[in-house]
Amino acid sequence: MSSFTLPTTLHDAHGRPLEYLRLAVTDRCNLRCFYCMPEEGIKYMPKHELLSYEEMLRLVEIMTHLGVRKVRLTGGEPFVRRDLVPFMERLAALPGLDDLSLTTNGVLTAPHVPTLARLGVKAVNLSLDTLDRQRFFEITRRDELPQVMRTFYALLDAGIQVKINAVVMDGRNIQDLVPLAELTRDLPVEVRFIEEMPFNGGSHVATPESLPWNHRRIRQHLEAHLGALVPAYTATGATADEYTIAGHQGRVGIIAAYSRTFCGTCNRLRLTAEGGIKTCLYDQGVLDLRAMLRGGATDQEIAQALSQAFYHRAANGFEAERLRPVHQLNFESMATIGG
Ligand code: 5AD
Ligand code: SF4
Repeated sequence: MSSFTLPTTLHDAHGRPLEYLRLAVTDRCNLRCFYCMPEEGIKYMPKHELLSYEEMLRLVEIMTHLGVRKVRLTGGEPFVRRDLVPFMERLAALPGLDDLSLTTNGVLTAPHVPTLARLGVKAVNLSLDTLDRQRFFEITRRDELPQVMRTFYALLDAGIQVKINAVVMDGRNIQDLVPLAELTRDLPVEVRFIEEMPFNGGSHVATPESLPWNHRRIRQHLEAHLGALVPAYTATGATADEYTIAGHQGRVGIIAAYSRTFCGTCNRLRLTAEGGIKTCLYDQGVLDLRAMLRGGATDQEIAQALSQAFYHRAANGFEAERLRPVHQLNFESMATIGG
């Protein structure tokens, strides 16, 4: 990279440091989880609108100079993008990055587990909402549970820490919460239950209080079946409240994704597959880095723009949500309905 002076670790106006990047390498996915996508899929971006791996590497390197130490690859599903492994090798070799991890649905992941271990990936988040094959099919619209379980056991065998992410959906998988949590009895895994966020195109009426399964109810439900959830040490910046259960090897986590209880220590940025920066999950994108990259911006200019965006980020997910502009799609459908 061209030389430029290294700013000290960035902090935002609320005193929160920048440490962690969530990098979406693709908008594509091989599942169709109903809370994420309509059955026919979303309209995928043409390839030239996605950042190339070269472009992503350049941005990650700039971000390491701003304080980012940890990168998590997400999507869509990271493994549906071609040549992900060579890209990960290059990321793993970046000086300044000491934690490379990924979130995957596990469908295509099992054959790559030895490579992940070789690259020093210490933990993988596996999205899995049920252990029941029929309900897996109903939730994801694909019959891939056996492949996902193969990935789960391959990760355990390789000594990679597994965190299962299960979205808690009223009327869909409540019967699965206890069986999922039971995995922690004999296995050293963390099973994390995530409040469902109404991001899936439905009308946005729920408030955190009216969410049928908020973090408190999830905890009560688990305690009624498994005994006390004892609060465990949780790293700063973490979104999950972690708990131990007497006699269990693993841990249970609860992520108040919609109640947004953890914004005060949020240390992350998101880079979307098309090169947009989100400084909060609930904002609509606050900086177009693809335009900067392709318009010939220097590293220094990009670092400056990132610093500005990070400094000015919303205090929390509620403020970010309030600041969202009217989304074009909502606008169009409102017009169709008679606006
Ligand atoms: N609410 C909560 N979690 C969600 N995820 C995707 N969509 C939603 C939603 N609407 C989760 C996935 C995955 C992680 C990346 O985000 O299950 O584990
Ligand atoms: Fe969305 Fe993840 Fe399900 Fe794919 S696996 S459809 S990205 S929630």
